[in-house]
Amino acid sequence: MSKQNFFHTLQKELQRIEDAKTAKRHEKIIEGFTDDPAPRAMIGGKTYMIFNSNDYLGLRFNDELKSAEASASESFGTGPGAVRFISGTLKVHRDLEKTIAKFHGRDDAIVISSAFATNLAVLFCLIKGQAADSVVAGDTLVVSDELNHRSIIDGIRVAGLPKENKAIFKHMDASDLKRVLSENSGKFKRVVVVTDGVFSMLGEYQDLKKLRSVIDEADNNFEEGIILVVDDAHGIGAFGRSGKGAEEVSGGEADVLVGTFGKAFGADGGYVVASQLVIDYLRESAATYIYSNSISPGTAAAAKAAISLLESKEGDKLLEKSRDSVKFFKKLMNQEGFAFAADSDHPIQPVLMGDAGISKAFREALFEAGILVTSINYPVVQKGRDEIRVQISASHTRSDIEHFVKQASRIGRDLGLLK
Ligand SMILES: Cc1ncc(COP(=O)(O)O)c(C=O)c1O
Repeated sequence: MSKQNFFHTLQKELQRIEDAKTAKRHEKIIEGFTDDPAPRAMIGGKTYMIFNSNDYLGLRFNDELKSAEASASESFGTGPGAVRFISGTLKVHRDLEKTIAKFHGRDDAIVISSAFATNLAVLFCLIKGQAADSVVAGDTLVVSDELNHRSIIDGIRVAGLPKENKAIFKHMDASDLKRVLSENSGKFKRVVVVTDGVFSMLGEYQDLKKLRSVIDEADNNFEEGIILVVDDAHGIGAFGRSGKGAEEVSGGEADVLVGTFGKAFGADGGYVVASQLVIDYLRESAATYIYSNSISPGTAAAAKAAISLLESKEGDKLLEKSRDSVKFFKKLMNQEGFAFAADSDHPIQPVLMGDAGISKAFREALFEAGILVTSINYPVVQKGRDEIRVQISASHTRSDIEHFVKQASRIGRDLGLLK
């Protein structure tokens, strides 16, 4: 009987989520993809243009990546077989780590199953130290941008710091970070400042140069100084002249940089690049690395092929096409009278709806018209800043974008959003 009561409580929680209209589990099942230049998703016998994917360069359908994946699976098998320190370190994993470290101009890298799992480990290890007898434990202040990704928030949460060891600075506000650091001057041994590079809801980026200068100025006020941790999952591969993300665009460097192979690189898995010391420390301490499998050999080989492609002329062309397409999309949408929730040059384009009902109706009408987008609502964004998040891919053709804008304008007029 007692466990029935627990299940009843879980049922009530599901109902609470449904009532709050935040349920996410009613997922659309994609049965396959067409072979258009920007492949369409096949759902329930219909095809849909994809304007809600993080595959910013269209690399997940790239033949070079697919053949690298197939040949690594042939040589190394379909799974890693064990965690890295037991017998799961395959040559493809180390090759990938060396390649991504070189791409970012850092000493070394560590690859972990996902960027979410990477952030959990990085923050736990840098804030507190993973082991009970770790000499890193305690006396750390962690300072986080107020709109950081959930994986950063959870990484801080699992470290279980007391309230006074945690602070938040206003979104993308370096002067507020300065205030937090000065109010806490000398009170802690060390400080970890953590932020997203590109923020996934609005496509805007943190000015890392400004953050860096605030941090460097306050560094001496703490016995062990301040380090800057940046998670640039959406920026790397998609943003900046050579795809190096927020660091390249803003001209500021992280001490510890987290990325994912699961977005612009078209593969899967998370990683950190940093100094040799930091990577050695993480390899010894990160629980999601030590006690959990890494990515499969095929995925590691595909990710490595994606980096090589990005560094080639073809990569330059894809990035240039991505920039042109973003400009083209913004121009057409502005001409139609749409407003944006932020002025982003990143492939994430937040089209302002201003109301949860309108954004839901807009998304549903686009779906009816054969187009996939995501609607983003309060509390993820501020009240009245509800948006349709459009994600432009380098694989979209001009006519795909024109088609999107035509459909969006028709729906915008029908819903009274446009005159
Ligand atoms: C900023 C940020 N960090 C981390 C992640 C997680 O990436 P992964 O899918 O590799 O776990 C995401 C994905 O949504 C993200 O937006």
